[in-house]
Amino acid sequence: MRAAKPLARLQALLHFHLFLLWTHGRKSDYSEEEIQILLNLHNFYRRQVDPPAANMQKLEWQNELASMAQDWADTCTFEHGQPERDRQPFEDIGQNLNKFTSSNLKRLDSLEARTHIPLRTWWDEVTWYDFSSDQCLGPICGHYTQLVWARTKYVGCGYLNGTRCPGKFTYVVCNYGPTGNIGLNPKQPYIRGEPCSKCDSRHGWCDDKLCITCTDQACACPLKCKNCGILNAKNCTCTCTEGWDYADCSGGLSPDIQTVLHAHQCAIQNRK
Ligand SMILES: *[C@@H]1O[C@H](CO)[C@@H](O)[C@H](O)[C@H]1NC(C)=O
Ligand SMILES: *[C@@H]1O[C@H](CO)[C@@H](O)[C@H](O)[C@H]1NC(C)=O
Repeated sequence: MRAAKPLARLQALLHFHLFLLWTHGRKSDYSEEEIQILLNLHNFYRRQVDPPAANMQKLEWQNELASMAQDWADTCTFEHGQPERDRQPFEDIGQNLNKFTSSNLKRLDSLEARTHIPLRTWWDEVTWYDFSSDQCLGPICGHYTQLVWARTKYVGCGYLNGTRCPGKFTYVVCNYGPTGNIGLNPKQPYIRGEPCSKCDSRHGWCDDKLCITCTDQACACPLKCKNCGILNAKNCTCTCTEGWDYADCSGGLSPDIQTVLHAHQCAIQNRK
């Protein structure tokens, strides 16, 4: 057991160096300050979804995704795509693009054009998206659904200063891992419900409606265990009774009949 610690350290070090090795694209042109603004905007919008989301993950920045976005932006190709890489940080990477044009050069080269305008444009597609039917009732919803895709954990963006490609515009590329807009059926971007009640991690740690991992265990834990599940306050999880699933034990992978049966048993227990 004693030898485990240095070994773990060595592994961490190796992992770090391997990571550096395959981060061979150039760094994002976004400054540290702008990265923070982009992240905050993403998470701001993810908190606004209506109906509320039970499994919305708080996004973190990933340099590898950002580097790929920057390399792609630099090609002046106004279509979805990724630069060639030996290895990708995710098998499937989502992508949002925004090309902002203006006759006003100062406006083109503004913080607003690099951060607030693209995010706002993507979010505004919400007016066309109908959650209940999972239908897009307007020209496009895919940027919105990627922006609020619950299971996406990382984002990384790059941009092109409007004067470097033919024409005048600011071009923003954001990459998302894992990708949104696939995998669920129906393909709604998130599970509707009490915020942080169905986090993928199965923990209920919550930062203002967004699922987080908590290392110091001092995070808010609003988790309420349903159907006779028992709360473990220490790691903010529920131990569910048999047949129940999700972090808050509110759903079942089991057939409906079994679910009804368990609900009944639970009701009897509660009455005692
Ligand atoms: C964008 O390009 C213009 C013109 O080349 C330059 O003056 C400006 O500093 C650039 N802005 C950024 C943020 O790189
Ligand atoms: C949380 O704590 C409970 C009780 O100690 C334990 O049974 C469970 O495995 C833990 N869950 C996780 C995900 O760590």
